[in-house]
Amino acid sequence: MAEQIPSLESLIAAAKSGFREEFDGEDPSAVVFAPGRVNLIGEHTDYNDGFVLPMALPLVTVMVGSRTEGDESIVVTRNEDIKGARRVKIQKKELFTVDRRCEPKWANYVKGVLANYIGETPTFKAVIVSSVPIGGGLSSSAALEVVTYQFLDALNGDKSRSVMPTDKALACQKAEHDYAGMPCGIMDQFISFLGKKDCALLIDCRMMTSKLIPFADDNVVVLVTNSNVKHELTGSEYSTRRKQCEKAALQLKKLSLRDVAVEDVKRLEDVAEEDIVKRARHVVTEIARTKDAADALKVKDFVRFGELMTQSHKSLKDDFEVSCKELDELVDIALSVKGVLGSRMTGGGFGGCTVTLVYRNSVDLLIATIKTEYSGIPTFYVCSPSDGAQIIH
Ligand code: ADP
Ligand code: GAL
Repeated sequence: MAEQIPSLESLIAAAKSGFREEFDGEDPSAVVFAPGRVNLIGEHTDYNDGFVLPMALPLVTVMVGSRTEGDESIVVTRNEDIKGARRVKIQKKELFTVDRRCEPKWANYVKGVLANYIGETPTFKAVIVSSVPIGGGLSSSAALEVVTYQFLDALNGDKSRSVMPTDKALACQKAEHDYAGMPCGIMDQFISFLGKKDCALLIDCRMMTSKLIPFADDNVVVLVTNSNVKHELTGSEYSTRRKQCEKAALQLKKLSLRDVAVEDVKRLEDVAEEDIVKRARHVVTEIARTKDAADALKVKDFVRFGELMTQSHKSLKDDFEVSCKELDELVDIALSVKGVLGSRMTGGGFGGCTVTLVYRNSVDLLIATIKTEYSGIPTFYVCSPSDGAQIIH
């Protein structure tokens, strides 16, 4: 069966009791959460100024804590999958330098947000609890950044109100670039701040604008399947893809692949290496598919939506070359099950999760089939679009 997703209330209760254990029975004054995400379509398009169509997940990261005096903050993650120390002290002066070698690695995401926060960064003590699988391609890292940002906002109260959520997302993205060394696009942080219950979010990554598209239907569900593999290539291949996309745009004398049409990609064939042509073809066709998918969703044409998802996977596999054996296997198995509308890898690739659109009455059969046929050990989440980050109090 699918995983039981813990309720927000139960995670908050766990975080509060964790805080009492860590800090001499005190109660925290601030409680915030930020979700992970699944991208429905629009993969590797965000850093090409394109469109993406993610939804926020009911899998969330909760941070609770209180302001402190002095120059030192203390952060504790209660997540048992984390490597290294789970309790970390952060000195204010550390935030003036970027040192990615610092251990434990997870604390660098927090430091990056403290350093890039728009406003006065307070000192605090805090506890983090999360239901987002770590390193599973559902953006536990963005959830950690965004929850940290929201937490600082909560401590600062009214003073934080004037900053636009998109600027906050950019600050979190910069934290990930500088402090984790991952040159990610804007999608994950954007949706974690701006997701809405029962809606997917069409994001225009050039304009930094977005449109909510209602996505709640009794007949269909989104199944996220974690392959539970993560290949080492992830980081280096991601930046290689970014560079190849930039090269393709440059060779066509365009600002980015957002400005490139399918016919332009044909022109590229005469002047560029094969890899560059393939990368460009994926991005250009994926941007078009994402817009088509948003149109299909608006009229609840789930059959069309599913077809576009499956096409997206093929393009990511053959042209962008970011899939892997396990993800291909999961997609192939899903597509063999009656009632599946579409299936694809989601996120950066080389492991992590697939996302499948399936008729509600077929989801149990789908899960059972994957369990029997997949060569690894999968984890399943049946997900509805959920709210973006919030300050609870
Ligand atoms: P994902 O797809 O889940 O974002 P990444 O490898 O990009 O995968 O990021 C995972 C990293 O984010 C973890 O290794 C850890 O450093 C950090 N992280 C995410 N969630 C938490 C958490 N709840 N507590 C501590 N660190 C976390
Ligand atoms: C993620 C990255 C996003 C996006 C995605 C691929 O890992 O953080 O910004 O580029 O890969 O669509």
